[in-house]
Amino acid sequence: MTHLTKNFARPEKNEEVATFGSLDPSIQELLTAAFQVRQRAYVPYSGFKVGAAFRAKVDGQIFAGCNVENAAFTPCSCAERTAIAKAVSEGATEFSAGAVLAYEPDVFTTPCGVCRQFIREFANADIPIYVAQAIDARIAEKQELLQSDDPVLCTSIFNLLPSSFHTYRK
Ligand code: THU
Repeated sequence: MTHLTKNFARPEKNEEVATFGSLDPSIQELLTAAFQVRQRAYVPYSGFKVGAAFRAKVDGQIFAGCNVENAAFTPCSCAERTAIAKAVSEGATEFSAGAVLAYEPDVFTTPCGVCRQFIREFANADIPIYVAQAIDARIAEKQELLQSDDPVLCTSIFNLLPSSFHTYRK
């Protein structure tokens, strides 16, 4: 588009799929926290369990959360917002990385639009987001953790929500 000057150029998308085993141990730990908290998902309406975890910048603490549904549907909290609300309540408002884990065949379950905006609120600089897909049957049967060859989408909040709304704070 000719009217776009350099200043208005859109950011390049920068994401890749890696295997769980190839990731840094601190990322594996974050994904494992998301995997474990997913067991607590309160999903009587959708049956779709999601786990999320964010690592606080200040001291490296992990805050994990699951989705919490409601009979009235609208008050449902996604796993990402549960995790971040827990962190903010405990005084952590900056994060070095986030992880999201669910299971849908053939696709990664990336954060919904509301959660992208919610994460963006606490990301003045970009933060990596790791999205894993692990089958629920593992939880139901043996509590088996993520496997070394499980695929993980390595993306970031600025990839997931380009040109986002963010004002008032700076
Ligand atoms: N859900 C999440 O927890 N995170 C997302 O990013 C997408 C959707 C939940 C909301 C609801 O409990 C269930 O998944 C089905 O939409």
